[in-house]
Amino acid sequence: MKSKQYSWKNGKGTGRRWMAGISFIALAVLGTGLSFGCPACNNAFGKEMEAGKRNPLLTRDFENAVRNQAGIKLEGLGSGAFKPQLHEDAVANDNAEPVKDVIKAEGDATETLTQAAINSAAAVPPAAQVTSQSFNTRGLEVLNPATRMAVPKEWESDPFIEVIRRDYEASVPPTSYVPQDTKPDHSFKFELHEGKAYIGNGVIYDGFLTDGTVPGPLFIVEEGDIVEMEIVNKGAIPHGASIHSAYTQTSKYLGYINPGSSGKVVFRANTPGVYMYHCAPGGHAIPMHVLFGQYGMMVVKPKSHTYKMEEVLGKKPDIEIYMIQHEFYASGKDAVNGHALYTTFNGKLFRYVEEPIKARPGDFVRIYFLNVGPNLISTFHIVGIIWDYIYWQGNPLVAMPGGQTVTAGPSDSFVIDFRIPPDEGAYTMLNHAVGSASRGAIGLIVAEKDAEIEPVIRPEGVFNTQEEMEEMAKEAVRTISPFKPTDYDRPVRMTPAEGEVAEIKIIGNSFDPKVIEIEAGTTVRWINEDVFTYLSGEFAGVHNAQGSNSTPPEGEEEEAFATALLAHGEHEDYTFTQVGEYNYICLPHPYMEGKIIVREKGSLAPAIGSGGGGGGGAGWLIPLALAAFFISLVSIFVSRNTSANN
Ligand code: CU
Ligand code: CU
Repeated sequence: MKSKQYSWKNGKGTGRRWMAGISFIALAVLGTGLSFGCPACNNAFGKEMEAGKRNPLLTRDFENAVRNQAGIKLEGLGSGAFKPQLHEDAVANDNAEPVKDVIKAEGDATETLTQAAINSAAAVPPAAQVTSQSFNTRGLEVLNPATRMAVPKEWESDPFIEVIRRDYEASVPPTSYVPQDTKPDHSFKFELHEGKAYIGNGVIYDGFLTDGTVPGPLFIVEEGDIVEMEIVNKGAIPHGASIHSAYTQTSKYLGYINPGSSGKVVFRANTPGVYMYHCAPGGHAIPMHVLFGQYGMMVVKPKSHTYKMEEVLGKKPDIEIYMIQHEFYASGKDAVNGHALYTTFNGKLFRYVEEPIKARPGDFVRIYFLNVGPNLISTFHIVGIIWDYIYWQGNPLVAMPGGQTVTAGPSDSFVIDFRIPPDEGAYTMLNHAVGSASRGAIGLIVAEKDAEIEPVIRPEGVFNTQEEMEEMAKEAVRTISPFKPTDYDRPVRMTPAEGEVAEIKIIGNSFDPKVIEIEAGTTVRWINEDVFTYLSGEFAGVHNAQGSNSTPPEGEEEEAFATALLAHGEHEDYTFTQVGEYNYICLPHPYMEGKIIVREKGSLAPAIGSGGGGGGGAGWLIPLALAAFFISLVSIFVSRNTSANN
């Protein structure tokens, strides 16, 4: 399943293909500005997809994309060319009738929109227009008394009643504190656990989940609502939660929940906005569980003020999109260093390329945008759109007009209001920090007259039961995990010189490398590079390594090893004498898994680029690169001359 060979049927011999390959790379490197397009390649690939010859998960996504893209207007995007028949039809259509009859329709839409806008503006009561002031002038207004709650009598015995009274009198929203026995307006519950999720492109993610997905469930309340949040730990290790929409203690109540237990907190959501919540079992485990996938969105909708654009248009949005940008990591080291393997919108690579969000020219669209991160910045942009208003962190009091992007660091959020222009076609949403766009954070809003819209797009990842996931994992292109070896983690061969060691770093609750291959007699050193060493167990970055030989030679007793607990910067060595495969874990974090493959002494050639534990150099890479570059140059001349002679 993992490494199906793709054959280039039109190739004319290995040597020529090799030469052509090098020339292509060299041309790309030299940046000659030539552009390549290959409809034949698209068709060949698409036909293999249709015939079910490619990875089954990928094929399923592809069929989904073809279904969703069928019949909608993707002009300017080129995605429809992926489907052979669509491509051929498009070519035929382009040849037959280069000018399509859409201009008339757009004209009608414009007229309707303009009239609607005029009507709407006229319908807004003058009082509402008066209250709509510009950026930064509304922040000190007294909250609308109508939404203010009086301090209830039964709170009189609270030890901090004076603080509560002052806050309820103040001209800013009170904090979220309520006595824990207060009756809630909403009771929410979610489950935290370890497990697998499908993240698109044939890839399975094995990490930490919330209600079976990454991101977890969306919660929506109104400003002033009393919220009860219950979390249930369905996992094998401690989890917890931190709720950003609460301006009071939540970690105190939810911060450390043992497997099989649950916790509850009650608070009042007083400050409107778009908020993150995430797992927070304490100490070092907080960043780890966020990096490993446990987070979601909670929106507190405003009651005492409205979003400016609703006043401008005199209506609520036609389409509300709840959108989370977030990252997936394939190792703890990458997670800590922010080297995301994938960046996605709402849990799936290219989700809204596959399932374009439908809109109509003139629609009023609102995006509740949250960049979870956990590391990367988002400069979210939609091609063809300038914002009407954005509201910092979703607070209607901080309304900013215009702009092409929102710049959101990890856990930053915006409410974004805009209109779909009176022109049909694809409006591409992307993180304009384009490295992330190329790794999955890109999607489409496709506008079409009379499109059947979905008025609410939710941010949860794609749900499959864990049983379904186990089945899907067998068919995956790859499975990735930040903390355990998967098919993505190839064994790293380590052949240290005499007197040196093979070094494994422990970083981001993960062994780096996760899998190594050594010869009998090699000394392995584990060094703890996690810094947050306070407290113990799941709280801390204190680790060890312990395991045993699962394939000892016949008649021999299995060799076993266990290091002491290591704090930051500490290390311990162990010399492997028995040939076999050793699976090992970290005792405080048993989900951290590693593997050591011990071969016969003298059986391993030194690995390419391996300097052993002591580092070593790869100085030979430079002359090799120069030689490759020279060959490329020669090949270009050869292939150009060949073309000229043909
Ligand atoms: Cu957790
Ligand atoms: Cu550990």
